[in-house]
Amino acid sequence: MAPWNTTLKLRLQEFAVFHHIMANSMCNIVAVLILIYLYKFGLAHLVYLYFAWMWWDLDSPYNGGYSSRYFLNLRMHTWFCQYFPLKLHTLSDLTDDQNYLIVMHPHGILGASSYHFMSNGSGLMNKFPKINFHACTLNFKFWTPLCREWLMLHGVISCSREAINNVLSDPRKGQAALLVVGGAQEALDAHPGQHVLTLKKRKGFIKAALENGASLVPCFAFGENDVFHQVSNEEGSIVRWVQTLVKNICGVSPVLFYGGFGPFMPFRTPLNTVLGAPISVTKIQNPTHEQIDQLQTLYIERLTELYGENKEKYGIDSDNNLIIR
Ligand SMILES: *[C@@H]1O[C@H](CO)[C@@H](O)[C@H](O)[C@H]1NC(C)=O
Repeated sequence: MAPWNTTLKLRLQEFAVFHHIMANSMCNIVAVLILIYLYKFGLAHLVYLYFAWMWWDLDSPYNGGYSSRYFLNLRMHTWFCQYFPLKLHTLSDLTDDQNYLIVMHPHGILGASSYHFMSNGSGLMNKFPKINFHACTLNFKFWTPLCREWLMLHGVISCSREAINNVLSDPRKGQAALLVVGGAQEALDAHPGQHVLTLKKRKGFIKAALENGASLVPCFAFGENDVFHQVSNEEGSIVRWVQTLVKNICGVSPVLFYGGFGPFMPFRTPLNTVLGAPISVTKIQNPTHEQIDQLQTLYIERLTELYGENKEKYGIDSDNNLIIR
């Protein structure tokens, strides 16, 4: 039975990854098809009921969502993590007497490493049983019926300033927002073996941490840039120019990528995410530019240390340094 068992495990892992990619790219189409189907086949009242609910629930992505233990613990999430495998390494505890802004780099093409914080697939809830995690994503993902609930049941919320501030100022404490701050811009620099971060101009997250007195937690996703290969798009090339134009218009980067098997499946390459020690931040109501820059410098320093001290453990050469733009 052993070989059959192994094959089954591999297929389940592939299913979980395929599902995640489809949920990211096709969820809107599938959701609309489901609603049209219900409507056509005599269940229109369900469709009306759904839209009434959605209308009533429009603010949830900005108010912490509604993560569910049941959904966070779906078996599929474990299979997803086993595929690469995706592992979480923590350098410090997160106590439940404060709120946290976890900042992950790099974004990569798939953002697979953020999966730690929207499931219990890598055992996050065992490591931090008292913390509520909220991964932040683009607003438009919450415009799609059904997909929005799927996201929020996994704790996912909007990455708008308002949504993040609501988590970071939550008086219950023990709340953590996850932001992959480099976003679409950083995805364009996701090439295997390269670590180019979009960070110098990103100051909104620093300001949010200051205004709420929330601890900043640097997090580095080793291997994230290796899960896909991307067509060459150096700065100054025509490909890059077109990609930047599209990104500026619609907020999403049209990355030209290819994977392990089938064009859309990522390579099975180890992903090791290191969650650093929190940087405590003293609350400042209206931080000045100097105060923001000061904390940004400290943040970049801690992140660079985290990368430097851990890179060789995860297969990166000692002379492969971070490039921060
Ligand atoms: C999280 O997953 C682990 C297995 O990795 C499991 O043992 C644990 O019970 C889960 N935690 C919660 C709180 O559901």
